[in-house]
Order: sequence, then structure tokens, then C-alpha cells
Amino acid sequence: MKAKNQLIVLTGDRPTGPLHLGHYVGSLANRLKLQSTHRQYIMIADAQALTDNFSEPKKVHDNVLEVMLDYLAIGLDPKKCTFFIQTQIPEIAELAQYFMNLVTVSRLQRNPTVKTEIAEKNFGNSLPAGFLAYPISQAADILCVKAQIVPVGEDQLPMIEQTNEIVRTFNRYYGRVFAEVKAQLSAVGRLPGADGKSKMSKSLGNAIYLSSSRKEIEQVVMSMYTDSKHLKVSDPGRVEGNVVFTYLQAFDSDKAEVKKLAAQYSKGGLGDVVLKRRLIDVLDKFLQPIRERRQKLAKEPKKVMKILEQGTAVTRKVVLQTMKEVKTAMKINYF
Ligand code: TRP
Repeated sequence: MKAKNQLIVLTGDRPTGPLHLGHYVGSLANRLKLQSTHRQYIMIADAQALTDNFSEPKKVHDNVLEVMLDYLAIGLDPKKCTFFIQTQIPEIAELAQYFMNLVTVSRLQRNPTVKTEIAEKNFGNSLPAGFLAYPISQAADILCVKAQIVPVGEDQLPMIEQTNEIVRTFNRYYGRVFAEVKAQLSAVGRLPGADGKSKMSKSLGNAIYLSSSRKEIEQVVMSMYTDSKHLKVSDPGRVEGNVVFTYLQAFDSDKAEVKKLAAQYSKGGLGDVVLKRRLIDVLDKFLQPIRERRQKLAKEPKKVMKILEQGTAVTRKVVLQTMKEVKTAMKINYF
């Protein structure tokens, strides 16, 4: 195997449900590329999932396997990356505790992603401290293995910014231990949900999963938002902001044909159903091998969990080394 780039990559997902095409476009596609060139850690963020699913431990527990199946099914390879479970490395929580001192509550309240999530979840007066502070814990996820590249979607940029503020503050008080980190954004940008407004989510029923059947794909694609003024086939239609075109541009390998269809749609004379049929075929063709691999892997859950167990052990060794440096820098190494 050729020598890998020295820069370390870390990213992860909350195990709250199966992964969808938004995850694929936003982050998983980049991870597939990075796994051959970089040292890459992939973390299942069960502690972070518990910050807003604390009353549903079974959901979080069961989705660890589901997310891992998605990873393996798309071709993330345990020979090339290291997979681990966040809670099984208690030093991440320890590191997060030290970072807590370096971040103000008002700074956390200004984090745009957290702000949006707080509004969406209607926490009102019962906002859990753990939820407000999860960006600090996320900084610990990234820095515990001294990662410098984080392949994520745009919504995670505030977390990277927060992490870099912690890096600077930590190094200023305790000496240089950490380096700043960079987000690696996807080339395609954000993939909207079928309604075109929000990002994909299970509760909104606007998502296509990596494990979706053809029938489920059909249901979601047929409900996709196109152009409310495109009533008759002969009407000129809007391509910009048309969810069907956004998806075709992301997944249809025949780019020239998509361009032709877009031109025809703008002029008038192309119906939504024809486009939607094409998209269903494109997505089904993309997901079919993933679905098949996933079904096979799902028959051997013990083997899949073993990969996580081994990866967690490998990661923990690295984290313990980081913690040694952190404790020396912070003068909490007594014995
Ligand atoms: N917050 C991320 C999400 O909701 C998941 C996550 C947890 C993460 N820790 C991370 C992503 C560290 C990148 C790096 O998708």
C-alpha cells in the first residue's frame, strides 16, 4: 500500500436512524475518496445522539448497527478506515469537560446550527445543558485523534469554527498541543428534502435512504417539488430550485442528457412525470448494489459489531496518547 497523507481525517454521524442520500452527498462521498489517501477515523456519535434522544436509549443503541451497515454497504472499507463508537472511549468525555472551561454559554447560544435545532425541537425552558454543549463535545471528537480534516455538510461549519476557537484558546493557555482543523465540503452542496425546503429528515417523510426499496424511492420522487407554475407539459418550467433536477444533477451520470433535459424543460414541452421516472431509475440503479450488500451484511451483525470493537480499541490507543499530552500541558499529571 502506498504511504498515506499525513493529515488525519475524522467524521461521524449520530445513530438516530438510517443514513440517507443527503448524508451521501454531504459527507459520505468525500469519505469514500479520502479513505485511500488519508488516515481516516469514522465515529458513530452515540453520546451526541443521546443529547436530544436521552429518553430513547434503545433507538440510539439499535441504530449503531444500522449506521455501520450503511457505511460498509456504500464501500467504506475497514482495511482503509478505522470505525469506532464515541461512548466507548470515555476519554472523549473527559477531554470535552476540560474544553467546557474554554467556551462561554453565550458563545454556545450563538452557534447557528444549535440555534436552529433548539428552535426546531421546541425545547422551550427545558433545554438540556448537554444539548447546548454538544459542539464542545464535537470538538473533543475531532481533537482526540488530532484530526485536521473533517468531511461534513455545510450545516456543520459552525462546529468547525467552534473547534478552532477551542484549539486557539487551549494552545494559548496550556501550550501548543492541537492544530487547527478544516472542513472538507462536498462539491454538490446541500441536497434538499423532497419538499425542496428543509434538509432530509425522517420525521418530515422527505428522505430517500441508502436502504430504501424501489417502491419507497418511487413514493418520495413522485412527491418531489418541481415548479408550482409548471402546470401543463407545454408550459416553460423552472430548473433552478427544482428538486428533481437537483437530484438528477447529483446522481445522473449522463450529464449531457441532463443538460439537454434542463434546456427542454425551461423552454416548455417536458412533463414532470417523465423526469421523475428518469430519476427513479437513476436512484434505483445507484442504490441497488448498496441495498444488496447491506442485506448480506445484515445477516452477520456480530461480525459487523466486531469491526467496531476492533476499531474502537485502535482509536483508544491514539486517544490515550493525546490525553497524555493534554494532561501534561494542563498540569494535571500528578503520579
Ligand atoms: N454533528 C454531526 C451530525 O449531526 C455528527 C458528529 C458528531 C460529527 N461528532 C462529529 C461530525 C465529529 C464530524 C466530526 O451529523
